[in-house]
Amino acid sequence: MKDKMIVIMAVLAAIIATACNEKTSSLQEAEIILEKRMDSLLSVMTLEEKIGQMSQVNLESGITEALLESIRKGEIGSLLNAGDAINRKQLQQVAMKESRLGIPLIFGRDVIHGYRTVFPIPLAQSCSWNTSLVEKAAAIAAYEAASDGIHWTFSPMLDIARDPRWGRIAEGNGEDSYLGSQLAIAMVKGYQGDDLSDPASLAACAKHFAGYGAAEGGRDYNTTLIPETELRNVYLPPFHAAVKANIATVMSAFNDLNGTPATANEFLLKKILRTEWGFRGFVVSDWTSVTEMINHGYAAGEKDAALKAVQAGVDMEMVSRSFTHYLKELVQSGTVDEKLIDDAVRNILSIKFRKGLFDNPYPQAPDEITFLRPENLEVAKELAIQSTVLLKNDNSVLPLRENIQSLAVIGPLADAPLEQLGMWTPDGRVEDAITPLAAIRKKIGKDRVIYVPALETGRSTDKSQFARAVAAARNASACVVFLGEEQILSGEAHSRAFLNLPGAQEELITELARTGKPIVLVIMAGRPLIFSRISGKVQAILYAWHGGTMAGPALTDLLFGIVSPSGKLSVSFPRAEGQIPLYYNHRNTGRPPQPENQGIPAGTPLDPVNFTSNYLDLDYTPEYPFGYGLSYTTFDYSPVTLSSPEITAGDTLIVRTSLSNKGKYNGTEIVQIYIRDMVGSITRPVKELKGFQRINLKPGESREVTFKLTATDLSFYRKDLTFGTETGEFMVWVGKSSADHDLKGISFSLSE
Ligand code: BGC
Repeated sequence: MKDKMIVIMAVLAAIIATACNEKTSSLQEAEIILEKRMDSLLSVMTLEEKIGQMSQVNLESGITEALLESIRKGEIGSLLNAGDAINRKQLQQVAMKESRLGIPLIFGRDVIHGYRTVFPIPLAQSCSWNTSLVEKAAAIAAYEAASDGIHWTFSPMLDIARDPRWGRIAEGNGEDSYLGSQLAIAMVKGYQGDDLSDPASLAACAKHFAGYGAAEGGRDYNTTLIPETELRNVYLPPFHAAVKANIATVMSAFNDLNGTPATANEFLLKKILRTEWGFRGFVVSDWTSVTEMINHGYAAGEKDAALKAVQAGVDMEMVSRSFTHYLKELVQSGTVDEKLIDDAVRNILSIKFRKGLFDNPYPQAPDEITFLRPENLEVAKELAIQSTVLLKNDNSVLPLRENIQSLAVIGPLADAPLEQLGMWTPDGRVEDAITPLAAIRKKIGKDRVIYVPALETGRSTDKSQFARAVAAARNASACVVFLGEEQILSGEAHSRAFLNLPGAQEELITELARTGKPIVLVIMAGRPLIFSRISGKVQAILYAWHGGTMAGPALTDLLFGIVSPSGKLSVSFPRAEGQIPLYYNHRNTGRPPQPENQGIPAGTPLDPVNFTSNYLDLDYTPEYPFGYGLSYTTFDYSPVTLSSPEITAGDTLIVRTSLSNKGKYNGTEIVQIYIRDMVGSITRPVKELKGFQRINLKPGESREVTFKLTATDLSFYRKDLTFGTETGEFMVWVGKSSADHDLKGISFSLSE
């Protein structure tokens, strides 16, 4: 009875606070009220109920009585993958009405690149360099998922990845911290909107904190060794950007970072995240990453794992149950201070309050109209267009003429709806996806399309259909071949040691090339692949990634020149696996390779060229560099000019160039600016991206493009780990990719 009274008082306090909240004009007052609501709730919670808030359970199969009983007892604070909207509503009702305190559950799910409307995979989206479009896509994903009763997405994945063997490279924004940070902000804004309590928004989760993308050998979950300056300069900036954008949650990673698993890493979770960055949301572990510390050899058992995770700053445990099993005992024995538990619960409750779950706990009824709205499908199509990168276009074989007599459409990915959706699409549906074959048929008419899949899947080696494919190519005016990776070849635990086109796909191109017909190769994949053996045999290559629901219409518009390709690579493409890790912002070495040796293997074993940092058996440069991508039109850059050759830290440097469209098509160029700090207290990268602009020009049109560089752009974590500039010489370049030959540069100096 007494218990109930306290609960009623707490609820009353909460209601009064809500009422006040409405009248509150200042943010500060709202904060005070929120704190009061949390205090009153925390003061009536038992230790078991607190630990319950810190436990997240995966709903594998249907709802069981045991699960409902656990919710009733307040033993669960969150569920992931909790069935459908009806299930979620039922579970929430039990939490709200049948548990002692009526604390709402928070439902999480991996809404990684769309919900029912599937957008291109994140790596593809990052090749659009279009923050507002990426933000729109995230907002649509949030809207669709939220209307299905989801509160929280485990996205964005902000891991910098320099290794295409790693299957999860598909889930992130590529190799660059600056681009990654801009996209991180866009995604947080898109998911969370202006107000987390908007029922059409999702709480976002920055993952995997931190360093997970540096897995040794590209093997998933593997060890990472990252010096602190490198961690701060390269791997952390996108996370910091997300925290500054008010992201609600952060996920601790699976990896062991410099000897301490990220899930027990106080340096990451306390010193950096909480103390330096002031993060105010909650930290969730990755899936069983708490108890996996036993395998890491960092925890002696479940109890030790729970202790280490909670002490390091993990607020909620995903899937494994070490918190449920041991936290109470750890507190009662005095090993863990209850204050630590209170802090964790406070972090979780604050997001539940901010998300508005106490006031609006119930998932909306499923409403089919919410999904796949025509205007949202248009965004998906536009993003698929802008994500696609034109790698090659000899003799302007693209765009194809709309009145082409006949077109051979060949390849296992031409009509493979599941594959084009890409990894992590639990809510995407095959029947919603429009394939390239369907879209091309619609565009030019079924009669003019000769379709031969040639291989049953991307991995098949059965060549019995090749003769038909060759005949189709012979009989057609041109040939578009859709090759690549099936969706199950990328994503979590899907690392590859060989990055070739699987199965007999390369042989298919060799056979088709013998016909002498122009071949357009469209590659749909979850990572950069290596296909240099066949790239010389085709006239054009469009790198389309896994483009989502609208991949087909997007590619059709590109193939027929309704729009020009504008995507630029957010990751370097190696020539061979032996070059990995390969990234544009490397350091110079004491013996840098010489540009004049570019294009050839460097010498012989007896006579290596100049003893420089080269390969004996392969060019040292990438096959396609970071920032690279062609258009149907051509762009010219004028020489770069500066507002001043010398600046001080308080100045803003204006960098100017003029961009002209010299070709015949309308086109969008992504103009990139890079700098190099010539001498540093630690060695500095040979180039660093510091800005970009998407500029659309009509044929014959020119425009001045201006960038502003301030001290922050020239700053880095220095040898003493402070963040700031160092005086001296800098180079600045503007151009169309990170490759030297695509850039125009000029030097300037920074003085006291
Ligand atoms: C992945 C996370 C994901 C989680 C929940 C883990 O295996 O590493 O990225 O959010 O599962 O599905």
